[in-house]
Amino acid sequence: MATHDKILIVDFGSQVTQLIARRVREERVYSEIVPYQKAEAALAEMKPKGIILSGGPASVLAPGAPLPSASLYEAGIPILGICYGEQAMAHQLGGKVEAGHHGEFGRSEVQITAPCIMFDDVWAVGERYPVWMSHGDRVTVLPPGFRTVATSPNAPIAMIADDARKFYATQFHLEVVHTPHGAALLRNFVRKVAGCAGDWTIRAFKDEAIEKVRADVGNNKVICGLSGGVDSAVAAVLLHEAIGNQLTCVFVDHGLLRRGEAKRVMTLFRGSYNIPLVHVKARDRFVAGLAGVTDPEEKRKLIGKLFIDVFAEEAEKLGGAEYLAQGTLYPDVIESTSPIGGPSVTIKSHHNVGGLPERMHMKLVEPLRELFKDEARALGRELGLPDVFVGRHPFPGPGLAIRCIGEITEEKLEMLRYADEIYIEEIRRAGLYDDIWQAFAVILPVKTVGVMGDGRTYDHVVALRAVTSIDGMTADFYPFDMAFIGHVATRIINEVKGVNRVVYDITSKPPGTIEWE
Ligand code: XMP
Repeated sequence: MATHDKILIVDFGSQVTQLIARRVREERVYSEIVPYQKAEAALAEMKPKGIILSGGPASVLAPGAPLPSASLYEAGIPILGICYGEQAMAHQLGGKVEAGHHGEFGRSEVQITAPCIMFDDVWAVGERYPVWMSHGDRVTVLPPGFRTVATSPNAPIAMIADDARKFYATQFHLEVVHTPHGAALLRNFVRKVAGCAGDWTIRAFKDEAIEKVRADVGNNKVICGLSGGVDSAVAAVLLHEAIGNQLTCVFVDHGLLRRGEAKRVMTLFRGSYNIPLVHVKARDRFVAGLAGVTDPEEKRKLIGKLFIDVFAEEAEKLGGAEYLAQGTLYPDVIESTSPIGGPSVTIKSHHNVGGLPERMHMKLVEPLRELFKDEARALGRELGLPDVFVGRHPFPGPGLAIRCIGEITEEKLEMLRYADEIYIEEIRRAGLYDDIWQAFAVILPVKTVGVMGDGRTYDHVVALRAVTSIDGMTADFYPFDMAFIGHVATRIINEVKGVNRVVYDITSKPPGTIEWE
């Protein structure tokens, strides 16, 4: 990445820090998020052209408040503070922050009181504009060298500027869509204030990632687990371009796949790419291992362990592979680190994050570690993967095991596969597939009474889930037309023997998660 301008994003734990990174990358400028404790080291390593201090839940007034190293302000680099970032800047640079009598949460308005480079071609002096606020504390005394350029009803110092040092700070969140002109203001910071060229593209990323893989891996052998999902496929094709036949892909058919999936993956990789591919048929091993296991975390850990066992065996068969490649994405990396230093709460054990067990003696290659999902998809297209494959909904590593609630049996898996196939087929037929982030069926461990024909039934329940999302970290349920969902339910009940009831999940994330386990 050495050749491109970069923006360093210092994280204080805001829920929306990732959006800052996304907005900056939309300006074709590479950005990286680091927890605030690592900001000084990252500054030296990355040599960014600009720094953005994120929002966060803390108060600078509290003892031990998270604050960046003061050296950041002396580096001669432009800085933008957002929300808590504004308060941290004001507090450290000699201004004053107080607990507000009235916090502001949600929609608000700012009035522009003075010209500022950040407003170029976006906001005019004297006008009012909608913004998104979420703060209890507020800046009450300007730090020396700053002037106020915007005010709001509950934050008279809603935006401040020190043009000499190129320091700017906003009380409102400009990274969220609820601040309609926020992206344009960020563009002004990145392009005009920090002077970034905007030359970071997926093609540039691809070329550099290929070079980096070659340099890291040398002449060693690499195995890459293919799950049938987009990320591992993109990683595999990228690695193949980088190191050719030093790469062997391993597709573990654990018997927890959707109908026809194994064939689809094998056809794509053996047919379109000449990538050496081992098809491991491990259904019995996984299904036997999972017999009687009902606890979701136990299922995930067991599957993770079995995957590692299989990969270790395959690596040995290849005469020892030194590297294991994975399609880990940036949100996985961020989710697994906490800005306040400690480990973040484990909601679910995603088996592809957190490194490898020591007994494996392999090193990891994760060429997509810096990408968001949509960027990984763009990279897949750049690498020539077919659109139907790149646009597929995400599918979790533990597969149908976490969609077969409670005990996993072959009978339940078969019902689930069939119901899922009908559901996805209908979604595609209705032209809705690409509007939905992820849709799938779940089979529940309860039976309910029904009546079919003239007889009583006592059969399984299938739940349908469909969500919209940007990165899988938050999600909304998809508001299907009732007639559509009714039609899908009728087809499932008529065609899938053993199912007599279908329900639709209308939980968002949070408080739900996307998968049920
Ligand atoms: P949750 O259920 O945590 O899921 O809201 C968020 C996204 O991650 C996918 N997911 C996984 N992907 N390994 C994966 O590769 C896993 O263990 C795993 N668990 C959940 C899930 O399908 C959704 O897209």
